Amino acid sequence: MSNNRVSRRQFLNYTLTGVGGFMAAGMLMPMVRFAIDPVLQKAEGGDFIPTDKKVAELTEVPVRVDFSFEQVDGWYTSDVTSFVWVYKEGDKLIALSPVCKHLGCTVSWAGTPDHKDQFFCPCHAGRYKKNGENIKGTPPLGPLDEFETREKDGLLQIGKTRPNTLV
Ligand code: FES
Repeated sequence: MSNNRVSRRQFLNYTLTGVGGFMAAGMLMPMVRFAIDPVLQKAEGGDFIPTDKKVAELTEVPVRVDFSFEQVDGWYTSDVTSFVWVYKEGDKLIALSPVCKHLGCTVSWAGTPDHKDQFFCPCHAGRYKKNGENIKGTPPLGPLDEFETREKDGLLQIGKTRPNTLV
């Protein structure tokens, strides 16, 4: 009977081995992830995200263009949908972020009847000119960010975000 019983020493050995293994796995996982991360990131694809907006349809009036992309956050991958305000200036395509530079609410074009030629943030009445420049005297302290753009097969593609170059 007593042969089947786990001695105190054996019990401690099993427990410590288990805990040690758990800790080692915890230390190794980030290292493995670090080693294969570049591979994962490469698999995400190119720098530009396609949209279904025809460039020929764009005018000098900003319109909302939606786009979706895959976001890798640690081990998790999720589909994220976002949008930009896009207009044409001559042949140039301008894409501005809708994220207000005050506290991050979403701005809309001509969002208030008094300022039909500006972006408007409803949270604290922040306003921006068409090129994204913040109107002095309203809460935002900087211009809206800009996105790289390009045309492929007649359709608009959205690239990386960058600080506003138009202001
Ligand atoms: S968050 Fe836009 S004005 Fe405050």
